[in-house]
Amino acid sequence: MSRTAARLTLDPAFTVGPVDPRLFGSFVEHLGRCVHTGIHEPGHPAADADGIRTDVLDLVRELGVTVIRYPGGNFVSGYRWEDGVGPLDERPRRLDLAWRSTESNRFGLGEFIAFVRKAGPRVEPMMAVNLGTRGVAEALDLVEYANHPSGTELSERRIAHGDKDPFGIRLWCLGNEMDGTWQTGHKTAEEYGRLAAETARALRRIDPGLELVACGSSHRGMETFAAWEATVLAETYDAVDHISLHAYYEEVDGDRDSFLASAVDMEAFIEAVVATCDHVGARLKSTKKINLSFDEWNVWYQRRPDSHPVEEWQEAPRILEDVYTVTDAVVLGSLLIALLRHADRVSVACLAQLVNVIAPIMTEPGGAAWRQTTFHPFAQASRYGRGTVLDVRVDSPTYGTARFGAVPLLHATAVRNDAGGVTLFAVNRDRNQPLPLDVTLHGLELNRVVEHSALADADPEARNTVDEPERVRPHRVDGSALTDGRLHAVLEPMSWNVIRLA
Ligand code: AHR
Repeated sequence: MSRTAARLTLDPAFTVGPVDPRLFGSFVEHLGRCVHTGIHEPGHPAADADGIRTDVLDLVRELGVTVIRYPGGNFVSGYRWEDGVGPLDERPRRLDLAWRSTESNRFGLGEFIAFVRKAGPRVEPMMAVNLGTRGVAEALDLVEYANHPSGTELSERRIAHGDKDPFGIRLWCLGNEMDGTWQTGHKTAEEYGRLAAETARALRRIDPGLELVACGSSHRGMETFAAWEATVLAETYDAVDHISLHAYYEEVDGDRDSFLASAVDMEAFIEAVVATCDHVGARLKSTKKINLSFDEWNVWYQRRPDSHPVEEWQEAPRILEDVYTVTDAVVLGSLLIALLRHADRVSVACLAQLVNVIAPIMTEPGGAAWRQTTFHPFAQASRYGRGTVLDVRVDSPTYGTARFGAVPLLHATAVRNDAGGVTLFAVNRDRNQPLPLDVTLHGLELNRVVEHSALADADPEARNTVDEPERVRPHRVDGSALTDGRLHAVLEPMSWNVIRLA
């Protein structure tokens, strides 16, 4: 017997809000092989004169990332930015205390900006300052080096290093995961709140137009969650624009049904942080709204032993190189839907990370670059998810999960683009059965299905590898029809779907 259909209602009069293109950001950390042999590999056959792998650049462009966060992550909390600028042969090798690796510093700020510029004219850098082992003075120096045009020691130093034009970095993270005891220079909420506020006010003396992100909790399960945000925002409310959120999901003890519902947690996390921001704003009688920078999110198998370093103090070790299945890609698609459904408050989001380290793009040193399964939902959402998110009404059959109770089988959102077309993003969480979908389109002049594309596979463990890089990729679904303002489609079992209407 086939399932009861899930119903979706769309009406352009009811919107969540415009999508900030920065929702499709990513993240490059000095961690494992993300930088070295990931994006940067002098001597590789595809490397350009700066040592940037052009095969990786092509995939980064295809992925459609809009923001790239750098240089960490946990790495930033022990980082001296000066180590990564100037002549290569004068750059020091240092211990990276976060990942217990050795950092050669052969790639630094200038190389990163060159990489971002090559990635595309609309790709924006997002820098983090070290508030673990360092403070206000070093953050000021970094912003002056990066952004001041000329005529001071630091800006002239940048020019002497070959970068005449200022980098114009607008987005700055005030530290990283400072609530975590694993963080070098970990702080209490009171200590961090004061430091973040002082740093933010000082940076604004250089440029009041900077967009500043205060650290929120490292994840929703932190004991200090919500109290941390409230304390930090009480100190920083007037001085910052965003608060950060980080979340990683994995299948635990074979509980795939709960894993497929990971976005339930992400949406609850977002809504709790919005409530906390607005509570602090109300207490301060402020009309300003703090937005959310979900600057680390992904599927990450942290519980797997091979996720962590085997031998200490190696250079560019193979760590956190998760190989993603089609199941992971469906979950990642659902997390993208969660972000879009909150586009009114989530203004920046970064898939962590970009290359090799829990990443959509993989490389072999001296060899190929290829797309993981998770590459595809991200690329499609970035390409077709620009415009205004519609406040869709979902009426779906549910299934039982151990972690979240009854959860709708359908997870969906819709984005209306400037030309009036609509793209539906939909996940069927049912592992075994197809899900019929009925969509009512009110007040939308749509008359044809441009394409229904799906990512699904008979083998839930199917993955892409260097030997079989195209094993999992989106396929075309026939039979979806739009007649008299109603769309009928069938979503394959455990699938990510992109249905474009014009
Ligand atoms: O993305 C990997 C790590 O996860 C980051 O360095 C850190 O910020 C988070 O805990």
